[in-house]
Amino acid sequence: MSEKIKNILSQENFSKVDLAALLAAGEEDRKLVFAKAAEIKQAYVGNKVYYRGLIEFSNLCGKNCLYCGIRAGNKKARRYEVTEEEVLEAARYAWENKFGSLVLQAGERSGKDYVRRIERLLRQIKKMSNGELGITISLGEQSEETYRRWFEAGAHRYLLRIEVSNPDLYHRYHPKNKVHDYQTRLQSLFLLKKIGYQVGTGVMIGLPFQTVEDLAMDLLFFREHDIDMVGMGPYIEHEDTPMYRYKDQLLPKVDRFYLSLKMVAVLRILMKDINIAAATAMQAIDPMGREKAIKVGANIIMPNLTPSRYREDYLLYEDKPCTDEDAEECKRCLEARIHMAGGEIGYGEWGDSKHFEKRKKT
Ligand code: 5AD
Ligand code: SF4
Ligand code: FES
Repeated sequence: MSEKIKNILSQENFSKVDLAALLAAGEEDRKLVFAKAAEIKQAYVGNKVYYRGLIEFSNLCGKNCLYCGIRAGNKKARRYEVTEEEVLEAARYAWENKFGSLVLQAGERSGKDYVRRIERLLRQIKKMSNGELGITISLGEQSEETYRRWFEAGAHRYLLRIEVSNPDLYHRYHPKNKVHDYQTRLQSLFLLKKIGYQVGTGVMIGLPFQTVEDLAMDLLFFREHDIDMVGMGPYIEHEDTPMYRYKDQLLPKVDRFYLSLKMVAVLRILMKDINIAAATAMQAIDPMGREKAIKVGANIIMPNLTPSRYREDYLLYEDKPCTDEDAEECKRCLEARIHMAGGEIGYGEWGDSKHFEKRKKT
């Protein structure tokens, strides 16, 4: 078995079958995959880890993804919106602590007022930080005009997970209607790229009915779409969602964790110079989840800056870490964790994807 994995790892190109074999690697073989990924990470992106201070700005959402704890249909979710002053305060904290960048994330909403408010907020953050804070936004599917306005207001990276790249699976995890359409989501990724954003996407790992072949296709999807950054993590069931009924058919959580770790490692081998996030969901399963992800290829981490009183309401899945902590605690905690994983924090740097820089030059 190991010979087969070693052979695949010595190749320059990987087929779907190769990638699926790497993702299926057992306890011994996966060490080979992790070692190769660590080597490639060191050679192409080094050991710097960049911060993206995360502000979970609101859990209001107009959509109803069948897996998500803050879906519109979950009447148990207590809805909140962080005030403008609080966002600016969190942004100031990020700037003063040399985090380099922010991520503004929320459920998906539309409407003129909302678009304008976000636009204003982006301009205020830019102004407050003398243009020094980089801003990533993760605010779902929007019109081209909205994407453009937010880009002009100062956001320069956008995260929009495709969630699962297989359209048939996509439609199984979402209500079958126009607002949950695979093609629209895919189209959004093209629009974002056209406008000039650094584009990030990602998937959930260990979903019901998902196979290693599907995951191999997800990796090829990232490459085919020449993505600059990826954030992906394990699917974790949430009691108040329709998909909870499949909970007995899921892989055990540890297996989902290792599958996610292998996804990170194999992606680093496949796309050597992109930015890969150590997803918070990794830590919902393993207390050292994010450090492990850094060791095998991730180079981005998102310290939570959401004001403490809102944190436990941004529950997309169970056991989300950091809900009892505040910005200062997460900062200290992550610093220690990154050093333990042999990383160095890229303080005060945007840490843009090297892949993006190259893409711009060509
Ligand atoms: N488990 C893991 N990740 C989830 N997300 C939403 N619900 C879950 C869940 N139950 C992820 C989606 C979304 C991101 C913000 O959170 O991938 O894009
Ligand atoms: Fe809304 Fe995003 Fe959750 Fe879907 S995954 S319900 S769009 S917050
Ligand atoms: Fe939030 Fe450790 S990162 S408590």
